[in-house]
Amino acid sequence: MTALPAELTIVVPTYKERDNAPVLIQKLDAALVGIAWEVVFVDDDSPDGTARVVKDLARQDPRVRCIRRVGRRGLAGACIEGMLASAAPYVAVMDADLQHDETVLPRMLEALRGGSDLAVGSRYVEGGSSGAGFNSIRQWGSDTATSLARRMLGIELSDPMSGFFMLRRELIEDIVPNLSKEGFKILLDIVASSPEKLKTTEVAFNFRERHSGESKLDSLVTAQYLGLLVSKMTGGLLPIRFLMFALVGLSGIAVHLVALTLFHSGLNFGFEWAQLIATVIAMTYNFVVNNAFTYRDKRLKGMAFWIGLLTFYAVCSFGTLANVSVASWIHGYDPAPLLAGFVGALMSAVFNYAASKALTWRDV
Ligand code: GDD
Ligand code: MN
Repeated sequence: MTALPAELTIVVPTYKERDNAPVLIQKLDAALVGIAWEVVFVDDDSPDGTARVVKDLARQDPRVRCIRRVGRRGLAGACIEGMLASAAPYVAVMDADLQHDETVLPRMLEALRGGSDLAVGSRYVEGGSSGAGFNSIRQWGSDTATSLARRMLGIELSDPMSGFFMLRRELIEDIVPNLSKEGFKILLDIVASSPEKLKTTEVAFNFRERHSGESKLDSLVTAQYLGLLVSKMTGGLLPIRFLMFALVGLSGIAVHLVALTLFHSGLNFGFEWAQLIATVIAMTYNFVVNNAFTYRDKRLKGMAFWIGLLTFYAVCSFGTLANVSVASWIHGYDPAPLLAGFVGALMSAVFNYAASKALTWRDV
């Protein structure tokens, strides 16, 4: 054990990795002989008690630390917080489930000491592989995501989806305001957000099978990834959240129309009543889906859910006012109803997004 300040901080995001964390620490200890290292676990209050297990180990080993985040979820955000908690010249990010091969960490560190900005653990350069860690569906998904990133963002890395990398800490301190806290693809975001081309070294590794527990990557993660691509293509002008919010809103229009037809034509309600009921249903739908999808990391539960729903109704009502007044104002100049209608709808989308972000899913 060394009392030297760490040269390398290894950031390990965790969600339900109780059985993997102790094994990883042992493996790091064996792989990093002669290096002043520390490991920071960033745990999103895993219900299996991962943070408690890590803190018990930390009491015996000063190289082990744990950040426990409460009320938040998200891989990218966790990695960012862990990196910002470091004062070491170099930081690495790796998964807790032992899929990433810790024995290549010394080679990554060599590359950085030798002047590289970034070292990436790659499954797709000579000597690397991904077979053990992926089934064929995940492999196809990973290949598609990789080629999209190459084409849409001009990324040259062989494995931009890798969650295993090391970089100069200064670099992250500089670009952190531009990074998206949502989603899974932190490396891709770093490379795409960096103002200068990074001097990069790729180090081959074999993507192993998960040790214990299960993967947290799901279809929402995929949607967030597509959002990240569009967001980065617009130079960050359109945040991922807005894109997701707008997408939910679009699907809400379909819900509205179905409800309207059902109540008006099906159940013979008068048009005004049917329209009112359809509006409430669509608002409720928007709230529930945004709460589960767009704001999954801040998901409102219990009492907060109902309060959130009420504030969301309020926000949408003002949004509708804004919509109608802007639309009639434009309609006054230009009688083409489609243009006025479109700008009005856009207006309420932006308003609802901004206001619900500030009121309904506000940062606590
Ligand atoms: N703090 C925190 N919060 N950690 C999380 C969260 C979260 O919401 N979701 C996942 N993690 C942690 C897991 O506990 C694990 O240590 C690591 O992030 C990776 O999660 P996995 O669930 O094992 O992801 P995967 O194996 O499917 O995906 C990995 O491989 C991909 C390669 O295609 C990740 O490394 C991806 O980033 C990578 O793209
Ligand atoms: Mn994994």
